[in-house]
Amino acid sequence: MGTRKVLVTGCSSGIGLALAVRLAKDKLRRFKVVATMRDLDKREALERAAGESLNRSLEIRQLDATCEDSIRECVNSLPNRQVDVLVNNAGVGMIGPLECQNVSAMQELFNTNFFGLVRLVKELLPDMKQRQSGHIVVMSSVLGIQGLLFNDVYAASKFAVEGFCESLAVQAMKFNVKMTLVEPGPVVTEFEKKVYEEAEKMDLSETDEETARIFRQIYLKYSHKVFNSVGQTPEEVAEQSLQVIVSKNPPFRHQTNRLYMPLTAMKHADPTGCLPIDAFYKMIFQHDRMFNASLSILRILHRRMGAA
Ligand SMILES: NC(=O)c1ccc[n+]([C@@H]2O[C@H](COP(=O)([O-])OP(=O)(O)OC[C@H]3O[C@@H](n4cnc5c(N)ncnc54)[C@H](OP(=O)(O)O)[C@@H]3O)[C@@H](O)[C@H]2O)c1
Repeated sequence: MGTRKVLVTGCSSGIGLALAVRLAKDKLRRFKVVATMRDLDKREALERAAGESLNRSLEIRQLDATCEDSIRECVNSLPNRQVDVLVNNAGVGMIGPLECQNVSAMQELFNTNFFGLVRLVKELLPDMKQRQSGHIVVMSSVLGIQGLLFNDVYAASKFAVEGFCESLAVQAMKFNVKMTLVEPGPVVTEFEKKVYEEAEKMDLSETDEETARIFRQIYLKYSHKVFNSVGQTPEEVAEQSLQVIVSKNPPFRHQTNRLYMPLTAMKHADPTGCLPIDAFYKMIFQHDRMFNASLSILRILHRRMGAA
């Protein structure tokens, strides 16, 4: 296989930045990377991280996932519009009680997380089908498999992503185009920082006292602990995404965090859906101490796995 052109969205920070740089610095020189971001004023961190690969194996282009013209302009600017691998990574988060979020903010989130993917696939899939080759890699989430308290709208957007890809994968296969959903658990990036900063200053007056208490004193407190205990680095997710990209037979789904797998496995273990809901309920509301103890164990396991 020769050099493959990989277009990555959302490269101003986090997983997108780490992956673009990891691919560009590949020792076997297997990739030419088109690292895109919606706001080129934010390119400095990527330029710094790219170092000598900048303008050699990595070029930076503007692309806003919410704007069809911007996507088309970016793709049209590439020789023969060639994109061998699309990494749809751009995404935004949202947490909090539903009553405190407005519908237009939810629509905006869907516009990026779901319709952003739809726009990119619409633009690139016909070319890939014609060439009878290509790989669409989508940064989904474990919340695309299983919902989570106070992540209602974000999880819904990732469920939409998963349903879209699962449906399309069969048609894509007919044209030798591969699809992979990468499903990270918690990853320590700007994403986490942004949603928690917003959550800290969120106006909770639209919800009842008990819900506000659960959000502040249970959800936010435990989320921090979860990120600190089992959160991966963007580089870890980037490394695994690279392995998916170079694989001869890439999986349709790839979860990046082995520690999270027992939680997602519950979903498939019980077709009634009660098992994961009961388990999350008990974990959050009834087994405070057990939850803390499990997190400590997970923290140790995470460190050991990192060292391995
Ligand atoms: N962090 C986690 O815990 C986690 C877990 C599972 C899945 N994920 C997924 O991983 C992906 C990357 O997230 P991250 O953790 O790396 O967060 P991040 O550091 O906040 O990066 C998100 C990237 O998406 C970009 N973006 C947002 N809206 C965009 C738009 N309309 N067009 C183009 N780019 C846009 C952001 O650009 P700006 O700088 O301009 O905002 C940024 O470059 C997301 O899809 C997220 O849902 C994250």
